Order: sequence, then C-alpha cells, then structure tokens
Amino acid sequence: MKVLVSDQRGKLVKLNDVVAKTLMQAMRDAGLNLTAQCGGCASCGTCHVYVDDTWRAKLKPIGEIEDAMLDVVEERKESSRLSCQIELTEDLDGLTVTLAPGAAFA
Ligand code: FES
Repeated sequence: MKVLVSDQRGKLVKLNDVVAKTLMQAMRDAGLNLTAQCGGCASCGTCHVYVDDTWRAKLKPIGEIEDAMLDVVEERKESSRLSCQIELTEDLDGLTVTLAPGAAFA
C-alpha cells in the first residue's frame, strides 16, 4: 500500500510498499523527520498529523486516550489524529496526511 505525507514545509513524500502496522511506524521506516517520542503509546503527542478530508471518515473513530492527548497538543484541528493510533489496513491505501507543527525534530 502507499501513503502520502506532506511535511511541515509542504513537501509531499510518497511512501510506497508500506508494510508497517501504524502510520507512525511507516513514516519512521521511511526516515521521515518525525519525533514520536513515546514510541506509539499515545502519550506524547509528537506524532500528530492532519488527515486529509477524503480519508477522515475511513479511519476508526478516535479513542478516549487519543482524544485526551490531542487536547494538549499544539494546533489541534478537526482533522487531527495521532499517527501511532492509525492502523494501516488495505482500505487506507493512498491515505494522505500532513505533519502537524511539533511532530518533527527542528
Ligand atoms: S508516538 Fe507518542 S503519541 Fe504517538
């Protein structure tokens, strides 16, 4: 499957042949500059992404823990999700997201 990621500068990166279980892991595997400090426990908020509108309805609903974490991240929007909580399933082939401020090392 493939995933499209825009970094904070607007550069679009296409991840092909993704096999990772989560979006966060796929971005790390591809060497993207993603902080993801807690390693996927939904406890740091540094894997924050904005999900393109066309894909938002295809994701599993936001969980209570993810929602609480997103409440304390920088610049939360309607489209905000934690990429470590997005499981990559075949129906998400082509998923398109943008890295949020604070999700990358400076
Ligand atoms: S990696 Fe820490 S919340 Fe996702």
